[in-house]
Amino acid sequence: MQKATFSYCVNTLLDGGVVALPTETVYGLACLALDSNAVDKVYHLKKRPPSNPLIVHVLDLEQATKISYPNTVFKILCRKFWPGPLTLIIPKKKIVPENVTAGLETVAIRSPSHPLFRKVLESTGMPIAAPSANPYSTVSPTSAREVMISLGNSCPPVLDGGKCEIGLESTVLDLTCETPKILRPGPISKDELEKELGRQIVNLSETNDLGTPSKSPGLSAKHYAPETPVRLYPSVRSLLESAPSSSENLIIIPSKEFLPSFDSSSARIMMFSENGDSMEIARNLYATLKKADLSEKKTIHLAMLERTDGITEAINDRLRRASSS
Ligand code: TXA
Ligand code: MG
Repeated sequence: MQKATFSYCVNTLLDGGVVALPTETVYGLACLALDSNAVDKVYHLKKRPPSNPLIVHVLDLEQATKISYPNTVFKILCRKFWPGPLTLIIPKKKIVPENVTAGLETVAIRSPSHPLFRKVLESTGMPIAAPSANPYSTVSPTSAREVMISLGNSCPPVLDGGKCEIGLESTVLDLTCETPKILRPGPISKDELEKELGRQIVNLSETNDLGTPSKSPGLSAKHYAPETPVRLYPSVRSLLESAPSSSENLIIIPSKEFLPSFDSSSARIMMFSENGDSMEIARNLYATLKKADLSEKKTIHLAMLERTDGITEAINDRLRRASSS
């Protein structure tokens, strides 16, 4: 299926179908969250293991309260960061079908800021479940075209909302324990969350080895990965020193600034951004990895960013996952 109109997508959802919708982070494979048959279709289309729960998207705190039991921390955070790229995990109400949460007693909820997604939430009047619109464990799509390419013949109707403004999946924060825990780093950083809460929280991706089974079933090590093997270097400097320059290699640098250093290299060079701005790197990250895959090189060489501003921790997290085997 190809691009579809807004009303076609809304009607498909109301009929129990699946559509791909734009969010400010990445495109989602959407269905009505309270319709367990529709939810089954999403798992099937995405080839997602039934043990990996979905995020439920809501308009606001009021709608969240219909499907979960918000606590004080939840309310503080959603007042500050919603609508936006923050997913919060709290105890669910019975009304949420078991398959949405993979049998867990908790539900992951976020309120997206993309105007088209919000219009869909308003038109249906119902919460919408949506994992990223890519086959399981591959790179998330950040444009309608990427959705259609990655889902191929099984692609449902796609609502085109342009290129995603952020380009990386939401921060996932578990609020079911005494100390909130970041299960997946994202656009809302640990610093911002700590500042708002006035206390320290835990980032599980810092404390966990990527290979350790984690509390969030979707955070297996090999996730968000291109098909081509990836080699990751701790810094651009070490990438410059050690990446092989033969033509079967592809090197991706953060920005134009590093281009002159590769003058004599015969390896193909790509860039995540022109100017090295973290937001721009995040926005282009997945599209660049997809392009890199298409070049059919033997290995993709990448470097971690050495900065520590806002979204950088999420970029480095995804680079680590892209390189784990
Ligand atoms: O930005 C985003 O979050 C995008 C857009 C479409 O909203 N969605 C997204 O969904 O990335 P997905 O399904 O690809 O990732 C959801 C993550 C998975 O790692 C999943 O395991 C975790 O959230 N998750 C969902 N419910 C959970 C729960 N109850 N407890 C722990 N982790 C949960
Ligand atoms: Mg995903």
